[in-house]
Amino acid sequence: MIPYSKQNIDAGDAAALLEALNGGVITGGAWVERFENALAETTGARYAVALSSGTAALHTAYIAAGLSAGDELITSPITFAATSNAALYLNAVVKFADIELSTGNMNAETAISLITPKTKVIAPVDYAGLAFDNGELYQYTRSKGIFIVEDACHALGGSYKSGERIGSCSFSDMTVFSFHPVKHITTGEGGAVTTNDRSLYEKLKLLRSHGIYTDPERKWIKEMALLGLNYRLTDFQSALGVNQLKRLDIFIKERRRIAEVYDREVGCAQAVGRGNSTNHAYHLYPVLLSTERKRNALLEAGVERGIGFQVHYFPVYQHPYYKQNGYSGYEKRCPIAQDFSSRVVSLPIYPFMDEADQQKVLTSLTEVDRWG
Ligand SMILES: Cc1ncc(COP(=O)(O)O)c(C=O)c1O
Repeated sequence: MIPYSKQNIDAGDAAALLEALNGGVITGGAWVERFENALAETTGARYAVALSSGTAALHTAYIAAGLSAGDELITSPITFAATSNAALYLNAVVKFADIELSTGNMNAETAISLITPKTKVIAPVDYAGLAFDNGELYQYTRSKGIFIVEDACHALGGSYKSGERIGSCSFSDMTVFSFHPVKHITTGEGGAVTTNDRSLYEKLKLLRSHGIYTDPERKWIKEMALLGLNYRLTDFQSALGVNQLKRLDIFIKERRRIAEVYDREVGCAQAVGRGNSTNHAYHLYPVLLSTERKRNALLEAGVERGIGFQVHYFPVYQHPYYKQNGYSGYEKRCPIAQDFSSRVVSLPIYPFMDEADQQKVLTSLTEVDRWG
């Protein structure tokens, strides 16, 4: 089976895990801080807070931004449901802004048109690993007291056109990452928030662990200042993260190498976000086929041939849960997302992908295009 993505674990990762497991403290210890420091250094952010998943990171970031019942959050419908689910946990209202066909990223002008006095957070997604990259939106929202929480779960290791690294919070108040095995580095499950704002950082750390503060001198004194959660990442996961991060550059280089082959060969289909290979983190390599029928035929062919073609994504508002909870009617408001999701398919991409496997993917793509 050729998956659409997968982790790469080496002997150094195993050794780091073992060292942490034998270290005595397996949660709440020094590895977590080491991982956070490495993440801050890698992304160029002042602070990083490690959490138990990307979803936990989104939820915590939204709470830190003050999102609460009745507030509005604007995001892209072409994302993993967690981006908007985390707002629903807080009884906030999600507004979906249509996307740009060429990148799959949210259209900034549409997002601005959805702002109301109730808007508290805008959560752009760096779809597939390509930065949303909108400094003007950030300037605008700052003046209105709206937080930008950038969902960069696809984009660790990528950068903005201006050269700053994703996670540096150059255009956001907080940036969120996931370390699920299909992502650029993995901790099994895991996530993080980066920020340059000291007060957000302190809030995020408190929220991660029940909102309970421990007096640094009299450690038996623990007071709950905020209603928090248990979203801690363990020390052994953090140790794995530290070691994986050392190879992030190699992983990104590899993903770009695979993407360049696709760039050269994908003549029959339109690659999404093409021509951005120096900044792109290539979590995904999505292409748009000319028709939904061809896209579906490719998905079927993949099942027969053991190739894990995937759809990233069916619009979030189309999930039955969303339809049943007041989010019907978005099909008309998001025509580009509708078109995109009916024709998009992700080609497998991961570090050290076998050349012959990549050719199999390309052969299937070409054949399906020819049949149509
Ligand atoms: C865009 C996006 N946001 C959020 C998440 C949630 O991350 P996690 O699976 O680590 O909870 C994912 C994971 O796939 C994602 O792709």
